[in-house]
Amino acid sequence: MERIFGRPIVTQEEMRTRIKELGKQITADYVGKDFVLVGVLKGAYAFYADLARAIRIPMRVDFLVVTSYGSRAKTSGKVKIVTELTENIKGKDVLLVEDIVDSGLTAQFMLKSLAKKKPRSIKICTLLSKPERRTVNVTLAYVGFEIPDKYVVGYGLDYQQKYRNLPYLAVLDVEGDQE
Ligand code: IMP
Ligand code: MG
Repeated sequence: MERIFGRPIVTQEEMRTRIKELGKQITADYVGKDFVLVGVLKGAYAFYADLARAIRIPMRVDFLVVTSYGSRAKTSGKVKIVTELTENIKGKDVLLVEDIVDSGLTAQFMLKSLAKKKPRSIKICTLLSKPERRTVNVTLAYVGFEIPDKYVVGYGLDYQQKYRNLPYLAVLDVEGDQE
C-alpha cells in the first residue's frame, strides 16, 4: 500500500504539531465569539476532525459538501454546493475549513456564497496552500503548510476519490512522471 502513494511530503508527526499550533491560534482569536466551524467535504474531513479537537472554545460544527466541475488540472471554478449548511450562520463568526487552496477559485466561490447568509465574519483555514498555482486573490487567515506545485494525496485529499485515508500527505507518483 505504501509504495503506490509515493514520497511523504508532510508526516503524521508534522501534521499533529502544526494542527496543535493552529488550534491554539484559533482558540485565542475566537474566544468569546459565536463561533461556527464549517468543514468543506469531502476533502477537509480528516483535517477538520483533528483541528476541531485542538480548538478549546465552545463552537458549533457544520459542513458543506461541494463538487467542482471538470478535471482538477483545469479547475473551472464552477463549484456546486451539493449539501448545504444546517446551522443558521447569520451574525456568527464562521471559519471555513478547507483541505487545499490551489487556484483559489473554490475558496473564492465559497466565501461569496456564504457571505449572502450574512455572517458577522467569515474566514478561511486551509491545511494546504499552493501559492504558485493561485489565479485569484483570496485571503487565507490560517494556512497549515505551503507546498510546491505537486499533486498530493492522503489525509483527506484524493486522487480519483481514492487515497483519502492515507494518514500522512504524499506526493502522488504518476507513472512516467519523472521529476
Ligand atoms: P482550487 O479551486 O483550484 O483552489 O481547487 C481546490 C480543490 O482542488 C481542492 O479542494 C481539492 O479538491 C482539489 N485539489 C487541488 N490540488 C489538489 C491536490 O494536490 N491533491 C488533491 N486535490 C487537489
Ligand atoms: Mg477534491
